[in-house]
Amino acid sequence: MTEASPISPTQLLEGLRAIVGEKACLDASADMQPFTTDYRKLYHGKALAVVLPATTQQVSDVLALCSRHQIPVVPQGGNTSLMGGAVPDDVGDAVVLNLRRMNQVQEIDSVNDTMTLQAGVTLQAARAAAEDAGRLFPLRIGSEGSCQIGGNLSTNAGGTAVLRYGNMRDLTLGIEAVLPDGRIYSSLRGLRKDNTGYDLKQLFIGSEGTLGIITAAVLKLMPLPSATAVAWVAVKDPHAAVQLLTEAKRIAGQAVTAFELISGPALTLVLESMPQWSAPLPDAHDWMVLIELSSGGDAQTLDATLMRILEEGMAADLITDASIAASLADAQAFWQLREEISDAQTREGGSIKCDISIPLSKVADFIQQASAQVMEMAPDARMVIYGHMGDGNVHFNPLRPKSAPAAQFLSEHYAPVSRAVDGLAHQKNGSISAEHGIGVAKRDDLLLCKTPVELELMWQIKQALDPKNLLNPNKVLPAPSAAS
Ligand code: MLT
Ligand code: ZN
Repeated sequence: MTEASPISPTQLLEGLRAIVGEKACLDASADMQPFTTDYRKLYHGKALAVVLPATTQQVSDVLALCSRHQIPVVPQGGNTSLMGGAVPDDVGDAVVLNLRRMNQVQEIDSVNDTMTLQAGVTLQAARAAAEDAGRLFPLRIGSEGSCQIGGNLSTNAGGTAVLRYGNMRDLTLGIEAVLPDGRIYSSLRGLRKDNTGYDLKQLFIGSEGTLGIITAAVLKLMPLPSATAVAWVAVKDPHAAVQLLTEAKRIAGQAVTAFELISGPALTLVLESMPQWSAPLPDAHDWMVLIELSSGGDAQTLDATLMRILEEGMAADLITDASIAASLADAQAFWQLREEISDAQTREGGSIKCDISIPLSKVADFIQQASAQVMEMAPDARMVIYGHMGDGNVHFNPLRPKSAPAAQFLSEHYAPVSRAVDGLAHQKNGSISAEHGIGVAKRDDLLLCKTPVELELMWQIKQALDPKNLLNPNKVLPAPSAAS
């Protein structure tokens, strides 16, 4: 390894400012605070500087400078990571590189059905640009107004429409990424077929900025649906929800776009936090699902299909009550209730985040067993369980009882509860991170679920691309010593 040439903090700031400009390099702690604290306010880091580059070349120059002087760099998009993956630690020796100024949609090719855009475009802006061109960019997550395409890519984001359209990996045809030493890799060609060796873009997607900083992407566009039908449905239990999903897919096939499970405590939390919002059903229920169908056909046919799913579900004793959205406003109100679950937990001081995926055939048993285990460990916890059941993803998020302060609940229960829930998921062939990534929160839990060979390969890849271990250090990969 070559020796780092020493640089003083003042020289570093001068170097960074020469690249990104005076105003795009922050070093006062009050200015840096929004970039060094995570979305849930659970991780409070420090940084030497926050830089806001405007071009790929500036990103490259910043990384080359930092590499020469062995300065760690923490890449950041909308800073909405739930795993502490986008903020520095409290050592204070890193530069945060935020991509929000790189927010241009560069091209929409409506013949190729692709969109080329910079990494700092928010998901909301990307969806709006596609819609303006008469197309759908189908990734849909609650934080779409703040999260950025680069962050979506680096965590392989999922959300509520994965069942129909897949996650970020499935939606990406090419990326541009800057390597830790400043070299630029690009596959921005919009090809649906390209078998010329390793698919390098997939290394960067989902690697949470530990291998390179994604600066642009070519994404797939889909036809805009012409009809949508939405219902909020009370089901007997999670087993009934899985059966209802199977029936919905049999009856509606591809039109099943979203199938979200919501526990009673999850809805109660939202309604308590947003008292001006209406409950979707007259009575309280232990388990509910939000179903969305969409198609390119006519609205009446789709409404009839939804009605058939509900009637057959009632006849089979799976459904106990249901409300069909009669208007776009109703549908939006249902979705608003669902999307608010995440922020409602944050307002309560944060929950124990477990983001499980499991084969659909085992989801209901998993929920039952994990709930029983957690009730033994933290009997008063509010069982905020919800998620994208359609693709086997359960957000299993025990939340403090109202009587316990968040800090006390989290320090007592976070580690043992998340280990127990993640351990059970692993036993059932599941994953401990379906869509939120690993960040720092789940880093050491990888030791529970990855084989020594997998961990070794991950480190070998890291060393090949980032031999000085400068990009998003201490995220994702458990220290090699911890593995032995
Ligand atoms: C969601 O589906 O709401 C998100 O993944 C966020 C969360 O679990 O908090
Ligand atoms: Zn989710």
